[in-house]
Amino acid sequence: MPHFVYEVNHFGLDNDSLLLGETIFHNANGYLGVRANFEEGYPEGYKTVRGTYINGFYDFSEMKQAEKLYGLVEEKQTMLNVADTQGIRLFLGDEEFSMFGGELLDYSRTLDMAKGTTTRRVRWRSPQGKEAEITIRRMASFTRLSIFTIEYRVTLLNCSAKLRFVSSHRGDVMNYHDPDDPRVAAESFQHLLVRKVEAERGSSFITSQTAKSGLFVCSGVRHNLAGTITTGEAFAVSEVTLDAEEGMPVRLVKYTALADSIRHTDYRQVCAAELERAAAVPIEQLYAEQEAYLTGCWEKCSLDIHGDDDLNSALTYNIYQLIQSVTKDAYGNIAAKGLSGEGYEGHYFWDTEMYIQPFFVLTMPEFCKNLLSMRYKTLDMARENAAIMGCKRGALFPWRTIMGRECSGHYPSGTAQVHINGDIAYAVIAYYLATGDFEFIASMGAELIFEICRHWIDIGNYYKGKFHINGVTGPDEYTCIVNNNYFTNALAKYNLYWAVKIYDLLKQHGRLEPLERKPGISAAEVAEFARASEAMYLPYDEELGINPQDDSFLQKRAWDFAGTPKEHHPLLLHYHPLHLYRHQVCKQADTVMAHFILEDYQSRETIRRSFEYYEKITTHDSSLSRCIFSIVASRLGYKEKACEYFGDSAKLDLFNTHNNTKDGIHTANMGGNYMAIVYGFAGLRLKESGLYLAPVLPDQWTGYEFTLSYRGSAMKVAVDSRACRITLAHGAAQELYLYGEKHTLASEMVVPLQG
Ligand code: BGC
Repeated sequence: MPHFVYEVNHFGLDNDSLLLGETIFHNANGYLGVRANFEEGYPEGYKTVRGTYINGFYDFSEMKQAEKLYGLVEEKQTMLNVADTQGIRLFLGDEEFSMFGGELLDYSRTLDMAKGTTTRRVRWRSPQGKEAEITIRRMASFTRLSIFTIEYRVTLLNCSAKLRFVSSHRGDVMNYHDPDDPRVAAESFQHLLVRKVEAERGSSFITSQTAKSGLFVCSGVRHNLAGTITTGEAFAVSEVTLDAEEGMPVRLVKYTALADSIRHTDYRQVCAAELERAAAVPIEQLYAEQEAYLTGCWEKCSLDIHGDDDLNSALTYNIYQLIQSVTKDAYGNIAAKGLSGEGYEGHYFWDTEMYIQPFFVLTMPEFCKNLLSMRYKTLDMARENAAIMGCKRGALFPWRTIMGRECSGHYPSGTAQVHINGDIAYAVIAYYLATGDFEFIASMGAELIFEICRHWIDIGNYYKGKFHINGVTGPDEYTCIVNNNYFTNALAKYNLYWAVKIYDLLKQHGRLEPLERKPGISAAEVAEFARASEAMYLPYDEELGINPQDDSFLQKRAWDFAGTPKEHHPLLLHYHPLHLYRHQVCKQADTVMAHFILEDYQSRETIRRSFEYYEKITTHDSSLSRCIFSIVASRLGYKEKACEYFGDSAKLDLFNTHNNTKDGIHTANMGGNYMAIVYGFAGLRLKESGLYLAPVLPDQWTGYEFTLSYRGSAMKVAVDSRACRITLAHGAAQELYLYGEKHTLASEMVVPLQG
């Protein structure tokens, strides 16, 4: 069984632990996210990233470019911290509850991933000796996306007293900044301007507008207990006082509703209506809905490792975070840090398509449709972006963005990563292969792919009969602006091949005509795609028998690893980018990643030699790297190595191994860990010819199990030391390849384990 409860007793109260806890125990539902701050706050002088975020809700801010070169990005988007409704201060008579005063007799923090709630439990003795049990449960509702709740229960253990709750709702919020930390914004700005504060029939509402993007958000707060509401220019405070008897629990439930103008023109009414609707039912009903929703999710996506409990817990935690982070509509996406913090300013990267969608496409593909639809909605901006880059045709998606425009400040390691286009097209194809959803292809996917392929044709050129793509950056950010990055070219080849296929499919199904009108695709253009795909230049070095990362990679000087002090890692914090670019040193999987996603483009031997070459020069300074090396090691039969690469990376956030979890979770890494098991150890591939599996069992485990959704059917895959058992849980029989042999799965099949 997956471990659904993560509980820590006496979670640290030092500042670093508190910041970490804010991320680890945050509540999110894909629409809103709330960091796990203490309702009552911390003592003076403590740093906190006190935040509430909405997926896709942003303001613009200036991006200062030292030199004004044409087309450089001068304005970026930042995910905003919206109204703070976390505040609840509790007074026991004349004494205020604080974790930092009086005596903590007991204290724990819990995340329950089956119930979808977090809980802080405290047994506290006040300086005057009053003892109380305080239990605070929080939830971001998956069934009512605008709703966040705090249930605050107090039981006096050795006395009776007057209890007073002072519950705040603040609109005067700013984004986090720290001039001493280069990983987050150095200065902050009042992005959200409060336009109206209202108190109305027991609820308070704050309507705010963003300073530059002109968006609105309304937050509403309501309590189950009647009290008085005081409003100020940018805040509302509710006070509730009651007599509490010894041993009799008292409960305050605080409901927050958020609604924004991106999703609703009548956001103020939506906010009020959602708030009322949530407060009209007992909180137990909201909990029951939450649990039922999650039961449905876990049925589709649980991953269970036998023989390593810690790993099992970490993986369940990671999957839960992906469920919390993924947008539930087409107005958002998945930020690199989900909705858990402000690292990377809430931007969406290729992380979504290449690290997180591979999880959703096999478990809850309906979410992929939202993610890809969001890209589709921003296609016009991608067309504008391509034009800024000098292209005459096609679209170029931004390397990092919220609303669709480019936000990278450093174009060599940002905008130049045009593989983002290939990644999006790859994800469209993977979604189609997993679901067979041709309707999506006809309505959105085809246009995305055609525009992306036009961009390949526009930026590439023929040279000596081969199609070359020059002046790009691949995934490895230590090697920038190169010619013929293998990963990029291989993806472009694949995209172009699929554009032709999709054109034919549309034609066969009589669905071509709208696309002939817009974007105006023609048979002649598609013939050009086919020619470029066939002629795509994929760098290969005869002497080494490997695919060089790009045209100039192999002639560069080797990095002096032996002479690099341990404390100089990650290299990006200690060496000038140009110095890195001049060496053979990789931040992350690049060619090895291409060998995972497009393994049929090279022989096993080339993949093996390349793997061995790149593993010596890759630092894995990005958390997106080891999982890919683990997958390719599995493919090559290097079981031990695959385990080594997999290692502890599933525990990155729970153990804060990169020391920056306070800025938010690492969603791509979380997806990557899932991939290392399902695409790595279980050898899953989605290909044009079908679904492939080739499971092996790491020596440290006694078995593992996972569930798959494939073309409308659900399958359970269970691997133990002897066999791989695949069961059709529901849906039509499916064909699949197991260790290369074709089978039809009608009910159950058991095949001895190989490898
Ligand atoms: C990695 C990128 C990644 C980004 C956001 C960077 O460190 O090099 O590949 O997209 O982080 O996660």
